[in-house]
Amino acid sequence: MKVAVFSAKPYDRQFLEAANAQHKHHLQFFEPHLSAETSALVAGFPAVCVFVHDRLDASVLQQLASGGTRLVALRCAGFNNVDLEQAEALGMIVTRVPAYSPYAVAEHAVGLILALNRKIHRAHARVREGNLALEGLLGADLHGQTVGVIGTGKIGAVFARIMHGFGCRLLAYDPIRNPECEALGARYTELGEVFAQSDIISLHCPLTPQTHHLINREALRQMKRGVILINTSRGAVIDTKAVVEALKSGKIGALGLDVYEEEADLFFEDLSNRVIQDDVFARLLTFPNVIITGHQAFFTRNAMEAIAQTTLANITAFERGQPSGNEVTASKVRKEGHREHTTTAHS
Ligand code: NAI
Repeated sequence: MKVAVFSAKPYDRQFLEAANAQHKHHLQFFEPHLSAETSALVAGFPAVCVFVHDRLDASVLQQLASGGTRLVALRCAGFNNVDLEQAEALGMIVTRVPAYSPYAVAEHAVGLILALNRKIHRAHARVREGNLALEGLLGADLHGQTVGVIGTGKIGAVFARIMHGFGCRLLAYDPIRNPECEALGARYTELGEVFAQSDIISLHCPLTPQTHHLINREALRQMKRGVILINTSRGAVIDTKAVVEALKSGKIGALGLDVYEEEADLFFEDLSNRVIQDDVFARLLTFPNVIITGHQAFFTRNAMEAIAQTTLANITAFERGQPSGNEVTASKVRKEGHREHTTTAHS
């Protein structure tokens, strides 16, 4: 099947081409994002393959449908960038990769905690300058600390297991309890108690209307002074301006972000020769106790192989007129109560 692959970086091409040896689709790679400006490129392609910053709003989907596209194959788990109601109305199938490697994301979250807690990012820069002083590098044992896990699905559960291994006490918040986390001794409680009791808080819930700006001024007010906050879920789960204020006041002791509310205009590109226009993002970069990575938590060899395999298997199933089991529809999402934002381009 002819597939237009958008937001294609060399690494996407590498993994998709390797997996395609088995599936033999005709993959045409486009580097730009899919948007109103680029949707005309898709005419005559029955399938598009897209990623987190491609924007499939109502008008883009209409344009795709009029050009004969019937399948939107997401090569990610999140689908907040697709207007599912519109896709359904146009009779288009949307597939995704619901799970590829929870370890990749959970381990990255732990990496941010370890680096921030022991100030490894600062030590690395100092030592390279010949500065071997220890002032300012004091950390704390993770053993015995209380870790709040918000969202205990596939990634949250792996994260909880790793932190349990460090000897941390686990508090959890999720509308659906995960017995695997309870078996580790995680105590499910109200969000307010997770905020108030945790030394470290890590976000692993999806972006939904309920979780949009879950971490806002009021939530931050309830947290311990010096809390370490980690977000590898979706940028808009955090109200970034409120978080900047909390960093300035010292309420947040350290912040690790792999995602950012306005990341679509920034992430996955080399901007080192340009002036960053986003003042909130630029402010975040000035704090010594903030580490930002550019949505790389998923980016392991294992995850990329699994993403490529599942995406191409989804396309093959569609070509054969069979369900892949990875279809996502507005009605299914409504039923499961996991409806993510459909109009933002956030990952
Ligand atoms: P999952 O669906 O297995 O788990 C999500 C959990 O969040 C579920 O247990 C659900 O009940 C819970 N949840 C839903 N609403 C909630 C709320 N209001 N408060 C607290 N918990 C709530 O998803 P998985 O695979 O664990 O992924 C979690 C999130 O991680 C994804 O939605 C995505 O946003 C993010 N992600 C980030 C990646 C990255 O590279 N940074 C890569 C992959 C996923």
